[in-house]
Amino acid sequence: MNKNNYTIGVLTSGGDAPGMNACVRAVTRTSFLKGAKIVGVMNGYEGLINGEFKRWKNARDVSGFLRKGGTALQTKRSERFREKSGQREAIRNMNEEGIDGLIAIGGDGTLTGAHALAKQGIQVIGVPASIDNDIWGTDMSIGVDTALNTITEAVDKLRDTASSHTRAFLVETMGRNSGYLAVQAGITSGADIVLCPEFPITVEDVAEQVEDAYRRGKNHAIIIAAEGAQIRSTDLAKRLDELDVGFKTRVTILGHIQRGGSPTAFDRLLATRLGIRAVEVLLEGTTDYMVGLRGRDITMAPLEDVISNPRPLNMEHYNMVRQLAK
Ligand code: F6P
Repeated sequence: MNKNNYTIGVLTSGGDAPGMNACVRAVTRTSFLKGAKIVGVMNGYEGLINGEFKRWKNARDVSGFLRKGGTALQTKRSERFREKSGQREAIRNMNEEGIDGLIAIGGDGTLTGAHALAKQGIQVIGVPASIDNDIWGTDMSIGVDTALNTITEAVDKLRDTASSHTRAFLVETMGRNSGYLAVQAGITSGADIVLCPEFPITVEDVAEQVEDAYRRGKNHAIIIAAEGAQIRSTDLAKRLDELDVGFKTRVTILGHIQRGGSPTAFDRLLATRLGIRAVEVLLEGTTDYMVGLRGRDITMAPLEDVISNPRPLNMEHYNMVRQLAK
């Protein structure tokens, strides 16, 4: 492959995740270093369909990206790209712009889109970025560590007010259908109970545990509920008050605050390593793969496997929360 004539397109798609910019920076600078040209695609797959391209002139174009939250390339959830007609339009624009290969940074929807392009002959490498950490084939996705730190800090603060008022706090975390953030935050913030879609528990069970914490003389109880848990947080809080568990319960839905902020050192490192590797393998001629982290190593997984396998939740981690809640 003649790298001097090779043009790489890079996009971020789906929900933004802290560290996406750090990854775009690594992709851009590595491309220049290797003599390839680089085009930023604005607004994810939607921008690919609309032909929203931004040619980086030099490595300085991504200055300041390392510590920036959100995504400077912007992102959209594209309904049109799910259709064959949208994909066809995107491919046509890529050809007109002279883009030889694409690096798609995002979550499961983004990687599904990347696989669809690969099946139609486009050279594509996916990079996992989603605070949900629900992507198979990588231990960690870009953005997860930052989100977890945000949640931990928020719960620490909520614990102060919970203790002051002898209250229970029900904190809802993001994660769509995954309980990963809730479980990990349960450990890092010392919660009493975690509710997640993977391991259902009854309202009565939650009530029993909260009441038990009250009986044991605790001056607060922290419940972390994943947004995908069977029961809505506000309904659960209402039920707990009806069941009279000792504490009165307040609800905090953390929401999109979990997606913002400057990436942690871990996310900057991960994003940088994945971005560099994505360019390397693309220039080696690889396609239809995702770069990921396994243990300490940057590894590769076929996109077909990535998008068809669910990522299981670690039950040991889930049990840790209960074991340590005293
Ligand atoms: O996938 C990331 C995520 O933040 C999920 O945790 C959440 O369910 C969803 O995106 C929210 O999406 P939106 O920002 O489009 O409302």
